[in-house]
Amino acid sequence: MYDRKFNFSAGPATMPLPVLEQIRDELFNYRGSGMSVMEMSHRSPAFQQIYDDAVADLRKLMGIPEHYQVLFIQGGATLQFSMIPLNLMKNGAADYIVTGAWSKKALQEAQKYGDVRCVATSQDRNYAYIPDCSDLPIRPEADYVYICQNETIHGTLFQTLPNTKGKILVSDQSSMFLSQPCNVEDFGAIYAGVQKNVGPAGMSIVIIREDLICQDLDPRIPVYLRYDTHAKAGSMYNTPNCWSIYVCGKVFRYLLDMGGLEAVEKANREKAQILYDYLDSSRLFRCTVDPGYRSMMNVPFVTGSKDLDAQVLAYTKAAGLEDLKGHRSVGGLRASIYNAMPKEGVEALVACLKKFEREHPHV
Ligand SMILES: Cc1ncc(COP(=O)(O)O)c(C=O)c1O
Repeated sequence: MYDRKFNFSAGPATMPLPVLEQIRDELFNYRGSGMSVMEMSHRSPAFQQIYDDAVADLRKLMGIPEHYQVLFIQGGATLQFSMIPLNLMKNGAADYIVTGAWSKKALQEAQKYGDVRCVATSQDRNYAYIPDCSDLPIRPEADYVYICQNETIHGTLFQTLPNTKGKILVSDQSSMFLSQPCNVEDFGAIYAGVQKNVGPAGMSIVIIREDLICQDLDPRIPVYLRYDTHAKAGSMYNTPNCWSIYVCGKVFRYLLDMGGLEAVEKANREKAQILYDYLDSSRLFRCTVDPGYRSMMNVPFVTGSKDLDAQVLAYTKAAGLEDLKGHRSVGGLRASIYNAMPKEGVEALVACLKKFEREHPHV
């Protein structure tokens, strides 16, 4: 009815249609306030209510314990590559596990601020797997162990968390946030850029154990890059990304109404299985990630020929399937099938790929 396409973009990404419809209905006059949320003071009672409801719903959705703070911080997930080391490296050391482009970027940024080492990597096979993390050489002086739990470009997911040998675990969950249940207490800090599974780009959600929010930091650290600044001000030290917070709140409520994260995971598993089963049975396509490490959210696949990949891309686009181009470091195609991608979208993709395969019997 709106002539929408199936959007496989890695982010910004597809949103749940009922959420977009609610936003449309409230766009000009938010619940009798006489204005759009876009126009509303962040100090107004109406916006404070939006904020409080969003935090309460996220706490309920993830079962976030009281001793963890929920912060909404502008700057996207990339800013957290700096904020994490600036705030958490009290001994000046940290150990990173590098499983793809995003954890590598985070490592390189953190190395500016202290003695930061890579303790495991899967770089040898272009990050097609997650290394064994059961007995890593974690250093006694390390302040934390860092992972990117779901690598958006390379399409891997940590199915089990690393053994950190008692150190706190910090996780970039950007591309898997709210895609499955999460035991928050397994982590010292979790963060996620919201533009994949939650809302409009330009903001991150940080969930951090209260005792890790340090007041005694190097005074040269910019005030905006300190977690205590945001924690003390209830994420409103300055004008927050009100619009994004409002939309995120709608998505939290939508996921609660869907039955919570168990129900979300069930739907995601089913969708991912449809695509992986097809890729594993295909003569033409190959998933670039080893079984056992595959993401439920980002599925990279190739034909083995750049020309043919380009043909497939044009073919899927003509069928109304958008943004399937793989990242240049992996090549081929990538289907991002976040929470809001309906099963029908994945089925349409598989039907289109099958048709292409049938029409190209000799390649
Ligand atoms: C896993 C991961 N971390 C970090 C980022 C960076 O996010 P942002 O563009 O919000 O800074 C991305 C972006 O795609 C990502 O996928």
